[in-house]
Amino acid sequence: MSNKEYGRFITFEGIEGSGKSTNIAWAQEYLRGQDIEVLLTHEPGRTRIGEELRTVLLRTRDDRLMPMTELFLIFASRMQLLEEVIIPALRRGTWVLCDRYVDSSIAYQGGGRELGVERVEKLVQAMGELYAKPDLTVLLDLPPNMILDRLTNRTLDRFESEEQSFFERIRRTYLDLARNDPRIRVVDATRPLESVQDEIAGLLNALLNESIDG
Ligand code: TYD
Repeated sequence: MSNKEYGRFITFEGIEGSGKSTNIAWAQEYLRGQDIEVLLTHEPGRTRIGEELRTVLLRTRDDRLMPMTELFLIFASRMQLLEEVIIPALRRGTWVLCDRYVDSSIAYQGGGRELGVERVEKLVQAMGELYAKPDLTVLLDLPPNMILDRLTNRTLDRFESEEQSFFERIRRTYLDLARNDPRIRVVDATRPLESVQDEIAGLLNALLNESIDG
């Protein structure tokens, strides 16, 4: 997807409470202000089939959803979103902002659920030509002991009810990924929103300039 006629594909990653939703909505407005056509989407879910899969993934009840079942359901929802929404938009030249994408699976299922990073990466390879590679991934980094402060007054879903060690494994996996891939930019999410957004603006400006120069 590096052809300049395609839209840019930007993903936001981070643990619960890291401010993904707030900052991705802000990024959408920022890009619109630069006259860019933007589509904002979110994983898992967003398509009709994806929303049904999301319900199974997030509900808390007695039957245990096996880690591999969870992994495949997430990829199933992802393939539906790619083919129905993301790829057509990128082909039209629309920029796509996605709240979570494959790095979530590597971090949550590979690291958090301990299925192993390599196993999940193999599944990413198996997506073949349907794998749209992000041009930029913003990783909002937050220590897991700050999650609960930021999730007050909400009924916790199946992921949010996990213990802190689960989120520590996720954070470690995310940071390992970022160390090995310049596409992933780590943004310290403990700082005030304004400085977080200044930094994100800098990352978006770099992409905007590339699009103009290219
Ligand atoms: P959601 O309510 O959308 O949470 P958030 O706002 O934090 O994205 O729930 C999505 C949950 O699904 C979230 O806890 C992380 C989990 N998830 C994975 O475990 N693996 C994945 O690949 C994706 C996309 C999400």
